[in-house]
Amino acid sequence: MTNTLLILPGDGIGPEVMAEVTRIIDWFGARRGLKFDVSEDLVGGAAYDVHGVPLADATMARAQEVDAVLLGAVGGPKYDALDFSVKPERGLLRLRKEMDLFANLRPAQCFDALADFSSLKRDVVSGLDIMIVRELTSGVYFGEPRGIFEEKDERVGINTQRYTESEIDRVARAAFELARKRGNKVCSMEKANVMESGILWREVVQRVHDADYPDVELSHMYADAGGMQLCRWPKQFDVIVTDNLFGDLLSDVAAMLTGSLGMLPSASLGAPMANGRPKALYEPVHGSAPDIAGQGKANPCACILSFAMALRYSFDRGDEATRLERAVEKVLADGVRTADLMQAEGATPVSTSGMGDAILA
Ligand code: NAI
Ligand code: MG
Repeated sequence: MTNTLLILPGDGIGPEVMAEVTRIIDWFGARRGLKFDVSEDLVGGAAYDVHGVPLADATMARAQEVDAVLLGAVGGPKYDALDFSVKPERGLLRLRKEMDLFANLRPAQCFDALADFSSLKRDVVSGLDIMIVRELTSGVYFGEPRGIFEEKDERVGINTQRYTESEIDRVARAAFELARKRGNKVCSMEKANVMESGILWREVVQRVHDADYPDVELSHMYADAGGMQLCRWPKQFDVIVTDNLFGDLLSDVAAMLTGSLGMLPSASLGAPMANGRPKALYEPVHGSAPDIAGQGKANPCACILSFAMALRYSFDRGDEATRLERAVEKVLADGVRTADLMQAEGATPVSTSGMGDAILA
């Protein structure tokens, strides 16, 4: 099977961090015999500048064909005044929507060398390795009716939390499959105490578990208590599965347990394609960082770790993914730091490519 990859560097630091990933992809081809058929295209402001839209139709079509899309970041002050319909983030939203990427995977992993960056105590976070699976294409951000309506003598703002059984079923399966490749434990979070969608969520997750994943340990937790537990003792979790709204909040909380935006990867997965691989988009959590763009200061680790996720979840090369993650861990343990990972005054940070060099070495 060939390994096809579409690279969309985007705006700001996107192309800078993606350049380091490209070097790593070349290394895997030359040194490990792991070849990728790579194409590169524009997204976000970069696409708007050339095509007048943040994602061209031909790029969208290519994204639907490839095994994995790897995206840098989109946006920047230059595009802030644009009409919403052509804003850079619309390119990303179009990719997510048309590829129907319903499972958003946000790992929160705390490398020991960076444990002091967390807002929590070292003991609580060192060695942390959890995965939040957020439902991404339904729920209160999309449910109808929605809008601001006139009602009697004042206005009312309405959003609707709505989940079908099949939407819950498929994201639950994604979480159980992941758990089997990790610590074999899933905690499902909702608010079944006060929400109908929460009652259905809990019932469907339990049913999927009992029918097809009885070997995975399943627990249920109210999402508010889950937020508390994430801050109290996050290492109790392995995989957390939750809806779009709660997942938005909980994954941001979990991100801060690890302390550094420059280290956080993500994946968004959809249904399997004809070759059995899921539709997939990989991207760092951070944005285009206009404040440091063009200065060679950006930390490429989040983008590199996103590529490691692609190796694991799209190309079934968990062994090589682990190799890459261990290289990042080793470099950090050796004290190599980009500026965003510096605490001591007076120490010298490495550049974006300096970090790439160290990881390659
Ligand atoms: P941001 O993530 O771009 O930056 C926040 C802060 O973190 C900045 O101080 C930045 O320098 C720093 N930072 C981020 N990534 C870093 C890295 N890899 N290495 C070192 N430092 C890093 O978020 P912000 O400033 O809110 O947004 C900037 C632009 O990015 C906006 O146009 C926004 O819309 C866009 N954005 C795009 C996202 C995406 O493409 N998925 C996600 C978030 C924001
Ligand atoms: Mg958020």
